[in-house]
Amino acid sequence: ARIVVLASGTGSLLQALAAATQADGYPANIVAVVVDRDCAAAEHAADAGIPNFSVALRDHADRGAWDIALTEAVAAHEPDLVVSAGFMKILGPAFIERFGGRILNAHPALLPAFPGARAVHDALAYGVRVTGATVHLVDSGIDTGPILAQEPVEVRADDDEATLHERIKTVERRLLAEVVAAVALRGVVSDGRKAVIPSE
Ligand code: GRF
Repeated sequence: ARIVVLASGTGSLLQALAAATQADGYPANIVAVVVDRDCAAAEHAADAGIPNFSVALRDHADRGAWDIALTEAVAAHEPDLVVSAGFMKILGPAFIERFGGRILNAHPALLPAFPGARAVHDALAYGVRVTGATVHLVDSGIDTGPILAQEPVEVRADDDEATLHERIKTVERRLLAEVVAAVALRGVVSDGRKAVIPSE
């Protein structure tokens, strides 16, 4: 399967997914990386020899124009799957219309708990003892799409946001690679709220 990855940050999830796709027999490969700002993720893509380009909101008249530009830029690479790996923008209606049902996102909390851009901070501030990682299909909401996989991560008394996020990312990297491979091989059957990857 052809994957386009969307990223905005340090790109550690992208790096992990790129490494996973190098394994013999992995059923998907990253054909392009799209970022919305200058970020380490773009450099990791270049280091891995993956075509990468930026579609920045500030380069477009408004969010609607950005949404269309992003949709067209990604569509040019004819992805079977779009993977959001730390992409810090809400995908617009044009994008969801075009790729809905084929967009995966990794989120550093056990959705529906702690949606949004400060999930790790919010979980720590709330005082939960267990948080975790979620991989889900993206719909038009904010981290609200059907859940495909989750794994718990304990919160330690001496955790700060950085240590907790790093421990969560370790899980996200593995979970994302597993789900991408499963979806690439067996697809996703979703009836509205629930989405299921058919078993072997
Ligand atoms: C990940 O925890 C992802 O779930 C969240 O942002 C982080 C991205 O990390 N949306 P990186 O930029 O891949 O290191």
